[in-house]
Amino acid sequence: MNNAEALKKIAGEAACEFVKTGMRVGLGTGSTVKYTVLELGRRIKEEGLNIVGVPTSVATQNLATEVGIPLVELGSLDGLDIVIDGTDEFDPHFQLIKGGGAALLREKIVAQQSAAMVVVADDRKQVDCLGAFGIPIEITPFACDVTVSVLASMLNCNVELRMDGDAHVLTDNGNCIADARIGPTINDPITTESNILNVAGVVQVGLFNNMCDAVVLASGDGVQTLMNPKGRL
Ligand code: A5P
Repeated sequence: MNNAEALKKIAGEAACEFVKTGMRVGLGTGSTVKYTVLELGRRIKEEGLNIVGVPTSVATQNLATEVGIPLVELGSLDGLDIVIDGTDEFDPHFQLIKGGGAALLREKIVAQQSAAMVVVADDRKQVDCLGAFGIPIEITPFACDVTVSVLASMLNCNVELRMDGDAHVLTDNGNCIADARIGPTINDPITTESNILNVAGVVQVGLFNNMCDAVVLASGDGVQTLMNPKGRL
């Protein structure tokens, strides 16, 4: 396992401290939170941890099933106690860019239903100003090229449809994904989120504002938990 992978594992596993028996847990998507899912599966098997999970993607659903986490429909619950998820960037105000793995819509639906959100990350994800990663935006397949050009002129940056060879990358919801290459310039992510959501054809945007309560952050110095002073935890 290389260093970057080792940091993902440390962060993903450490976040399981937040999960207690009886909880309803949102299970995020990506290569860091994968280690959270694996560790929760281990605790269920070896320690009798009793939880139910709601996955944020088909990939996480498959992994959680494989490791024995009981899964339920979000709509069958009256909310979730916590969601643990990865991020592509987080800023000093705990605002996030997510969607590098194209799962942002389900991730945001699940996060909105959660009483708390814990993010797992390595220190490459920590930024002063959001935007170097680009903003993932889920858009309808209908006239997706038109939506992309409206977004490009509104944001004044290059916006590209995510491709897999000659085909559009499609999300678990059958939509396209575009990435807005805006650069590290997002000083007001709340206004940027709202402007993007206002464009017809946009289903959801990977700016997650005022949702993250804590970041479990792994670096060469070890793991630390950054608590959002304005958060719910
Ligand atoms: C999935 O769409 C994303 O929001 C991921 O949570 C995010 O890209 C972080 O993924 P990694 O942990 O794989 O970097």
